[in-house]
Amino acid sequence: MPAPLTPADYVTAEAYACEQGLLGRAWTPVCRSEELAAAGAQRPVQVADTPILLTRDRDGVVRAMSNVCRHRGMILASEPLQAEVVRCPYHLWAFGLDGRLKAAPFMAPGSVSNCDLPLYQAGEWGGFVFVSLDPDAQPLSEAMAPMAEALQPDRLEGLRIGWRVAFEHAWNWKVLVENFGESYHHIGPHAGTLQPLWPGGQTDSTPGGPDWFEITHPEHPEEGALRVWVIFPLFLLATTTRSTGAVWYRITPTGPQSMSLEVLGLEPPKACADAEKMGAARELLTAVHLEDITVCDGVQAGLRSPDAILGPLSPLEAGVARFRGWIAASRARPGR
Ligand code: FES
Ligand SMILES: [Fe+2]
Repeated sequence: MPAPLTPADYVTAEAYACEQGLLGRAWTPVCRSEELAAAGAQRPVQVADTPILLTRDRDGVVRAMSNVCRHRGMILASEPLQAEVVRCPYHLWAFGLDGRLKAAPFMAPGSVSNCDLPLYQAGEWGGFVFVSLDPDAQPLSEAMAPMAEALQPDRLEGLRIGWRVAFEHAWNWKVLVENFGESYHHIGPHAGTLQPLWPGGQTDSTPGGPDWFEITHPEHPEEGALRVWVIFPLFLLATTTRSTGAVWYRITPTGPQSMSLEVLGLEPPKACADAEKMGAARELLTAVHLEDITVCDGVQAGLRSPDAILGPLSPLEAGVARFRGWIAASRARPGR
């Protein structure tokens, strides 16, 4: 039986270091395919503690490689760009879109024979680009198969980014996953927004499998039923039965008590062209997230305190219990 989570797991550098293996092993969605659309597209992302460079080559293949130069360790790309080669800004070593070293000015050829960029696992599913640092990772399509019926990847693939809003939060990443993963709190911070539509007491987060769950909500006459998915550890998606799109919470853990968040509204291309509609959706989601910020700030502060506890969970938080059990078991597994 793995040791259960404690407040220290949301606060300390030791606990965060311990989680790097599980964060690296899992298939993590890092961008939408459209954010790496054309041949030569390059995009830096972070997976666990590893800076990754995503590329798309002429054949449309997506690759994930180390974003650290094999010469003196310079970060190769610090923002998305479009180019035929990956060129280090320091001494201009050039790598192909497949990670192979192509040129190293003034270096003897024999001295750079082992300087290709290490490659990691990459794949596309539902219009998302996923990365895993585990060389033995289960194929992406197999890993996602249990969620395919619920998430409908063919529908997700047809969506485009209609709006986005970015935040930096002083929270452990699990604070947000757990907040996203229960609708019990609609009765609190969302009393004036989500609670009248989808009352917290009428939600269920038992559907799903060992490494994911869905929160179901009652059908609202105008808005339909809210559907929320948490695929462990870091894939957070929501939609409603009346919606043509979905909302993706892209989380990048950056430390024991820090994370970047980008909330992206995904919609069919036609809806994306409606600036007024996209603006309204962005505003609504931002307002709801501001309500969540208050409680997540409070939870992080509480978990830092000497008398912090992880108290009993309600049946409405079945998904949170499953998530914590999965983290406890996964971090006990060695390696990537
Ligand atoms: S550090 Fe990249 S070329 Fe020197
Ligand atoms: Fe919330």
